[in-house]
Amino acid sequence: MNPIVQLKNIAKEFHAVEIFRDISLDIQSGERFALLGPSGCGKSTLLRLIAGLDAPTNGELWIDGQAASLAGRILLPAHQRGLAMVFQDLALWPNLTVHQNVELGLAGTSLARVQRRERAESALSACRIAELGGRKPGELSGGQQQRVALARALTAEPKLLLLDEPFSSLDIANKSHLYAVIRRLCTDFHLTLIVVSHDPLEAAALCSHAAVLERGRIAEIGGLQALLRNPVSETLREFVAQLPVPTRKESGAPARSEESN
Ligand SMILES: Nc1ncnc2c1ncn2[C@@H]1O[C@H](COP(=O)(O)OP(=O)(O)O)[C@@H](O)[C@H]1O
Ligand SMILES: [Mg+2]
Repeated sequence: MNPIVQLKNIAKEFHAVEIFRDISLDIQSGERFALLGPSGCGKSTLLRLIAGLDAPTNGELWIDGQAASLAGRILLPAHQRGLAMVFQDLALWPNLTVHQNVELGLAGTSLARVQRRERAESALSACRIAELGGRKPGELSGGQQQRVALARALTAEPKLLLLDEPFSSLDIANKSHLYAVIRRLCTDFHLTLIVVSHDPLEAAALCSHAAVLERGRIAEIGGLQALLRNPVSETLREFVAQLPVPTRKESGAPARSEESN
């Protein structure tokens, strides 16, 4: 079976400055995949290339067996890639209600008003915030706002969900709830998930596989548990070194890693 996302020797430059090159990776359908790495290493740039918001300078990007970008050109526009993205700043409209914000995920479709509302309500239920449709974003907690952004992404029924560090502002309890909601959504809707994060703990809570981006290259890639057992990249070596020693000795990885899920 074809991978749902395939990158072959992808390179990106901004104003002749190379951000990364020779990025090759396959993401299988249904996989939950983390793009890890320090701030500024190019994670968001890579996610934007996958989303079709920008074109790589070089290389090939295939989505679900279709050529999406080749040799610096976008062949498959963002809205035809079957994906939805949640950005770090969530991009909610403060003057619109939750229902109206979520229905914006269906902008450009020919659905009747009543069908839009139905889709919005079912996405809000899936994100466990069905009762908040009438509120405005300013009347919600940070975690509830994240769920609204997720619900909006889900309305278009994407195959691929892309998340760019949308949890940074949340406390640990809220994060844990959201991780559980997202894992559930992935299973229920057969979503493939790509999460950008600088935090290996977050990756381990959400994802089965990861690529670590450092100095413009993939430093390591594979199943997360295996990577954490034998870390090669600075990002994962530093993370594993900070784990409590008994956890390291006993399991070789944080208890929340989930390669088998
Ligand atoms: N549109 C752009 N124009 C010029 N430089 C950019 C642009 N977008 C990102 N960059 C640069 O690319 C590098 C990687 O940025 P980014 O992908 O946002 O990193 P990360 O998400 O890993 O923190 C940074 O040095 C950033 O300044
Ligand atoms: Mg970023």
